[in-house]
Amino acid sequence: MKVLVVGAGGREHALSWRISQSPIVKEVYVAPGNGGTELENLLTNVEIQADDIEGLASFALENEIDLTVVGPEDPLVNGITDRFNELSLKCFGPSKGAAQLEGSKEFMKDFLKRHNIPTAEYSTFDSTKKAIEYVEEKGCPIVIKADGLAAGKGVTIAHTIEEAKEAINQSLETKVFGEAGNRIVIEEFLDGEEASFIVMTDGAVVIPFASSQDHKALEDNDKGPNTGGMGAYSPAPIVDDYIHEKIMEEIIHPTLKGLRKDGYKYCGFLYAGMMIDKSGQLKVLEFNCRFGDPETQPIMMRLKSDIADLCNQACEDRLSEQTLEWDQRKALGVVMASKGYPYEYEKGKNITNIPQERSDLKVFHAGTKIESGTLQSNGGRVLCITSLGSSVESAQNKAYDALSEIEWDDSFYRKDIGYRAVAREKK
Ligand code: AMP
Ligand code: GLY
Repeated sequence: MKVLVVGAGGREHALSWRISQSPIVKEVYVAPGNGGTELENLLTNVEIQADDIEGLASFALENEIDLTVVGPEDPLVNGITDRFNELSLKCFGPSKGAAQLEGSKEFMKDFLKRHNIPTAEYSTFDSTKKAIEYVEEKGCPIVIKADGLAAGKGVTIAHTIEEAKEAINQSLETKVFGEAGNRIVIEEFLDGEEASFIVMTDGAVVIPFASSQDHKALEDNDKGPNTGGMGAYSPAPIVDDYIHEKIMEEIIHPTLKGLRKDGYKYCGFLYAGMMIDKSGQLKVLEFNCRFGDPETQPIMMRLKSDIADLCNQACEDRLSEQTLEWDQRKALGVVMASKGYPYEYEKGKNITNIPQERSDLKVFHAGTKIESGTLQSNGGRVLCITSLGSSVESAQNKAYDALSEIEWDDSFYRKDIGYRAVAREKK
């Protein structure tokens, strides 16, 4: 098979790397890819941006691509799968309609409510006055979310009424998220531990991946603003067999059933972000219509089953019930970011001394590029140093040891990725 992977991040490096190891795959193209995918012998970067749906479709037609796997949400929400299917091209990822689960918080919340799937209590607003009245009535902490896609920055957890008002104003009046913030969802603050649960489905059959957990906050101890994710590990010890079953029964199956009932065909990865409270009750925080970043990196490090074959089967509506094969070790990835991320940061800094790939270590690239033969930073999240170990602690030690070898001025990373899981291991 000839495969095209769409996207430029760490997730796409990890996905395309695994796909390229499949015995049924001959060639793998990554559009546009990054410095890391450029350095891989089995991958070829193609200079087409992930949001250029027509450009990607022309490339797939001209190069007789057998399967396209879409990494990021934007092209999915904008209908890449619908367009590819019109051209009889196989594309793994949900249709535009189904991708609204991620593309619109209002759609997602109304969907959950309609199908009795547990989630935080909420209300939707486009009026600043009404939104402020609601916040004053409910009190703090409270959570303000831009309705549309805001690159992971559209959520504010307000601890004071002033902060809540500021977030409402920023979205509805100042329009810091553009059109994505024309409407907001305001919801109840949930306490507990977060976990990510990712499955793949052809709309009928569903196969769960190993559990994972990411650290969204910028700073150690989960402090500071939210980011796309500063590190992740798999499995997440909080998702034991009991919670796994509960997630499948209370969230995943009802969601897929609800989608079918509402007339949406969902073929692709489905990512549920959940809060699990002390008594083990689950509530959905978000859905993503794609794999997580950086969760993909530790998960692909552990996956032994043939992901290319599975995606292809799903596109042909012949996914069969099966248990995926996993490396039983734990995997953990630490993100190295440009200083200043998630706000302003500089690009174009030289990066050297990246450790060689080993069976238990892989440095996935996200925001990197090769400039005159030199590896340089080219984004906010830049590298994800991912390793396998017999325990989360051992994977953590290996990842940080490898990270300490990397030479790159102006980098930044969290020093405590996996701390909850390590504490659980020690209990
Ligand atoms: P979302 O994009 O909706 O998942 O929100 C991003 C992050 O904000 C989540 O991963 C949580 O860490 C946090 N968050 C979102 N909604 C809530 C909530 N209702 N209660 C507490 N934290 C939340
Ligand atoms: N790491 C969170 C996400 O991919 O949305």
